[in-house]
Amino acid sequence: MCGIVGYVGPQEALGVVLEGLRRLEYRGYDSAGVAVRVDSGELASAKKAGKLANLEKVLADEPLPPSTIGIGHTRWATHGGPTDRNAHPHLSADGRVAVIHNGIIENFAGLRAQCEARGVEFSSDTDTEVAAHLLAAAYDDLPAGPDRFAEAMRVVCRALEGAFTLVATHADEPDTVVAARRNSPLVVGVGETADGTPEYFLGSDVAAFIAHTREARELGQDQVVEIDRTRGLTVTDFSGAPAEPKAYTVDWDAAAAEKGGYDWFMLKEIAEQPQAIADTLLGRLGEHGELVLDEVRLSDQELRDIDKIFVVACGTAYHAGLIAKYAIEHWTRIPVEVEVASEFRYRDPVLDRSTLVIVISQSGETMDTLMALRHAKEQKARVLAICNANGSTIPRESDAVLYTHAGPEVAVASTKGFLTQIVACYLVGLFLAQVRGIKYEDEVAAMVADLQSLPGKVAEVLEQMEPVRELGRSLAGADTILFLGRHVAYPVALEGALKLKELAYIHAEGFAAGELKHGPIALIDQGTPVVVVVPSPRARESVHGKVVSNIQEVRARGARTIVIAEEGDDDVVPYADHIIRVPRTPTLLAPVVTTVPLQVLACEIADTRGYDVDQPRNLAKSVTVE
Ligand code: F6R
Repeated sequence: MCGIVGYVGPQEALGVVLEGLRRLEYRGYDSAGVAVRVDSGELASAKKAGKLANLEKVLADEPLPPSTIGIGHTRWATHGGPTDRNAHPHLSADGRVAVIHNGIIENFAGLRAQCEARGVEFSSDTDTEVAAHLLAAAYDDLPAGPDRFAEAMRVVCRALEGAFTLVATHADEPDTVVAARRNSPLVVGVGETADGTPEYFLGSDVAAFIAHTREARELGQDQVVEIDRTRGLTVTDFSGAPAEPKAYTVDWDAAAAEKGGYDWFMLKEIAEQPQAIADTLLGRLGEHGELVLDEVRLSDQELRDIDKIFVVACGTAYHAGLIAKYAIEHWTRIPVEVEVASEFRYRDPVLDRSTLVIVISQSGETMDTLMALRHAKEQKARVLAICNANGSTIPRESDAVLYTHAGPEVAVASTKGFLTQIVACYLVGLFLAQVRGIKYEDEVAAMVADLQSLPGKVAEVLEQMEPVRELGRSLAGADTILFLGRHVAYPVALEGALKLKELAYIHAEGFAAGELKHGPIALIDQGTPVVVVVPSPRARESVHGKVVSNIQEVRARGARTIVIAEEGDDDVVPYADHIIRVPRTPTLLAPVVTTVPLQVLACEIADTRGYDVDQPRNLAKSVTVE
């Protein structure tokens, strides 16, 4: 939520900053803005409501002077509407300080009143602007010296409450950009140009600078960082005590964050799913076929002591958690509860040392999930993160982590992130069963072999998507589409409905097929499209037969039935207006294949309706506010 870029080095800063913003635009696209510090000792800035393209038009008409220090922002609006005036950067009253911000400054009203009492006039409705005025005042109060700008930032941070990443440039600082983070993401990139001149980058995530360097530094909570042309990188906490950032090398390159010939990032990311699943499984099998999850830094004894599991996540990641419940309970016999993070955090859940809380987050920055994780840790529960973004806050604050190696996910709607989260949950479930002696090694090995067949099966589904796209085009005029599923197919139905809502802005709801008769069946009208995800005929206790009955029930009431069923499942044929076939897959693993047509369907419907598939309205990729 909000993309942030900063640069100090020998290159033309504006180009570097705009390129970073292009790669971060998925984080928010309500407005965009840049500020550069020019050699005459002034700041120059430009900002515009709407997508980055609008700002680029402004800059084409009125170019900024050349500069080698710059900051840039792409916004997801919180305080203040998405207007030019509320776009970042925000300048201090004297125009000497420019600030960009991601997060929410919770005590901004009081601070604003204090500034106004000193005669400061505000020119926006944002919480951010207060930071610009405070920073200018703190800087003016400090004696000249190399640490002055960073110290001014520390003074400001000590006064702020809430969540913030702040990045600032000052007209009197020709070599330095300073930044700070509390509860919002910020990473540093360290590179050099072809002639060996050092350069430094700041970004909400590594995509901001991946075109220039893969060498990154992870910042901790409540830290201030200064990037300086000659002094390099300096990190302290808010009181000024030195801190050592953790260095890591990003394991993907700029090409991975490009569209690669696809019309949409989402299409590319759907197509990458077989590889993403294979990468997530890679290197996790020992020589005897047993699972080896070295990254899970919990001892075998700690894992044996677990008597209850909570899975906590948001949105699509929550759906992965719902699927995990079926598998983990079945394999380990440990009770599993699944809850959306924003509810879990505030309802006083019963947790103790023998509770394992699994938090799932693609971005590793979702604020609701982060707050739930902190709450769980306060209650002494063990926390295991399933996460895609290396170096992000959620895995850093968890006791243990299992990374999904999906690579960068740029489209706002999660696809490969989701499938790899499901696979990681399977790995955790099987690992727990193995460590606790509930499954023998050969049983685990057989199930891991099933997992290893998933990339091939997803690839098979992807090869047969043309009829699904055609169906999508025919559904583009629908007002409502319902999704039904039962057993593990129920969370898949929820995910299908979420994808459609967020991409195509069509009313969509997912239901447990058995619940239909308790109310929702009243929604079915002549021609209402109903997508039914049918569990495998081998699923427990004839749940398959019951879903076939549910298809008949909705069809009898006029529904147009779209049925996702396994190859060879002929029971559904008489009641399906359209059948989408998926390969035969073990029951608990089926969501990995049955989700794929739903992703393609939502994408095609949105595209046919003329919407921006990668950047749906009102959304942002990484939701860093509660
Ligand atoms: C939907 C979607 C969101 C995210 C949710 C959690 O397509 O992408 O619902 O799943 O905001 O995000 P992460 O996984 O980054 O915590």
